[in-house]
Amino acid sequence: MKVFVAGASGTVGIPLVRALVEVGHQVTALTRSPEKQDELRRLGATPALADALDAQALRTAVLAATPSHVIHQLTALPKEGPSSESDLVATNRLRIDGTRNLLDAAIRAGAQRFIGGSFGLLPGAKT
Ligand SMILES: NC(=O)c1ccc[n+]([C@@H]2O[C@H](COP(=O)([O-])OP(=O)(O)OC[C@H]3O[C@@H](n4cnc5c(N)ncnc54)[C@H](OP(=O)(O)O)[C@@H]3O)[C@@H](O)[C@H]2O)c1
Repeated sequence: MKVFVAGASGTVGIPLVRALVEVGHQVTALTRSPEKQDELRRLGATPALADALDAQALRTAVLAATPSHVIHQLTALPKEGPSSESDLVATNRLRIDGTRNLLDAAIRAGAQRFIGGSFGLLPGAKT
């Protein structure tokens, strides 16, 4: 498969890219940071530079990758976790506008599947 991973440089994204490459998928790995491109190349992916909040730049990156599958692992939560409502502003924008931009780009690129992470809080659940 040709997989476009948004959030490829993150805690979830890096092992995800590694696992996809290991089983033979062709991976394009999104980051905003030119300095992270080498690490993504070392994982076996092709880096793509764009900000997910820039709809045009993201569309250009996704269209260039011609992905069959697009995976959403974007977040802008502080590394130590959110401690106030204001800590959620950036990630909420990314989840709303970033998701819309990524979905729009995936559709325009003709991707067959769009995979987005979700979560549920389960009070009392034991892990
Ligand atoms: N880590 C955990 O323990 C954990 C637990 C439960 C759920 N999750 C969920 O898993 C998903 C990924 O989380 P994570 O922990 O891997 O996040 P992370 O380590 O903070 O990584 C965030 C990723 O999002 C990218 N990103 C942020 N803003 C961006 C923007 N405007 N445009 C393009 N890319 C942007 C970053 O790329 P660059 O900075 O390179 O541009 C980076 O690749 C989230 O939905 C999160 O809620 C994570």
